[in-house]
Amino acid sequence: MNDDDYDLQTLAIRGGTVRSQFGEHSEALFLTSSFVFESAAQAAARFKGDEPGNIYARFTNPTVSMFEQRLALMEGAERCVAFGSGMAAILATVMGLMKAGEHIVASRTIFGSTVQLFNNILGRFGIETTFVSPTDPAEWKAAAKANTRLFFLESPSNPLTEVSDIAAIASHAKAAGAWLAVDNCFCTPVLQQPLILGADVVIHSATKYLDGQGRVLGGAVLGKKELLEGIYTFLRTAGPTLSAFNAWIFLKGLETLSLRMEAHSRNALDLAAWLEEQPQVTRVLYPGLPSHPQHTLAMTQQKTGGGIVAFDVRGGKDAAWTVIDSTRLLSITANLGDTKTTITHPASTTHSRMTPEQRQNAGIGDGLLRIAAGLESVEDIKADLARGLSRI
Ligand SMILES: Cc1ncc(COP(=O)(O)O)c(C=O)c1O
Repeated sequence: MNDDDYDLQTLAIRGGTVRSQFGEHSEALFLTSSFVFESAAQAAARFKGDEPGNIYARFTNPTVSMFEQRLALMEGAERCVAFGSGMAAILATVMGLMKAGEHIVASRTIFGSTVQLFNNILGRFGIETTFVSPTDPAEWKAAAKANTRLFFLESPSNPLTEVSDIAAIASHAKAAGAWLAVDNCFCTPVLQQPLILGADVVIHSATKYLDGQGRVLGGAVLGKKELLEGIYTFLRTAGPTLSAFNAWIFLKGLETLSLRMEAHSRNALDLAAWLEEQPQVTRVLYPGLPSHPQHTLAMTQQKTGGGIVAFDVRGGKDAAWTVIDSTRLLSITANLGDTKTTITHPASTTHSRMTPEQRQNAGIGDGLLRIAAGLESVEDIKADLARGLSRI
């Protein structure tokens, strides 16, 4: 049986494992910055690429390779390259695939730092971005130009959980001669496999659900071997490397990913349905709810609605902050994908570097709150939110 014949749950636990000479059961953590060669000839062959094997931990480490191999099997990708953070993975994707004078079409509702990277940093190096609606594939088609090389989206998006039609946008990318990159952070391969839907590249902030317990930062880029070559060359040269220790944490995290994603989704759905009944809540956005504008699409391209719920409270920023400041259990933090439920006010934190106009266009109002449902009792989570809601 080949590795890729196994079920995802099995791959998450055993995929990519390589045992050392000691026969360890759990994956070994290789803390070494470089590797020794048996001879000058072997060193030369490794550097030339004639002989496979480790060289230097900026770009080769057996623990990192095991993580890359496991995630590649889970996403159905030919190759995975790991990075020190999700943002490093996004930067490396652009650096590996694009050059000055080229153009990106990106969803308007992507992670705040990705917007900053595209707008304020890449712009200085001659790469321009046009932002379009995540939910209208026709806008993507219309925005493509002769120099467009990359389409970029998150689905569901952060924080509004808007769901993009990945297959439709992939076909527009193909027609425009561009690659489609999907940030699959919110779903993970357990809930959604963008490559199967037609995307060319999948990106992860492993910091989130792949770790699952809020311990370490990391990222990954996945896709076809030839597409990943330039991205790997950027890693090897520029060094936004994932540490072996963090890769080892992710290997352990992947082992429970399926179970956790099911449980996160169950709690999120329960919470979203409850929030819909609260009089102080004017809008609930959760792809698993029938009221979500892209519910039908979400249920065809995702296994569940995922763990993120966004909602608007009556009364704007003051009301939203009251809900946050009344919590005793929930963690007030921008991170997500943790066993511990987190609560965030996007307008003043994760998306505060967007201009008020950009936020308004993206639908991120002052009364918006984002919950990343953890694995505590959902009744305790509701009680923690009910305290603040009753004070509005
Ligand atoms: C959807 C999404 N993509 C990318 C990132 C960036 O990842 P990192 O913080 O690991 O750099 C985040 C971080 O919150 C995110 O939510």
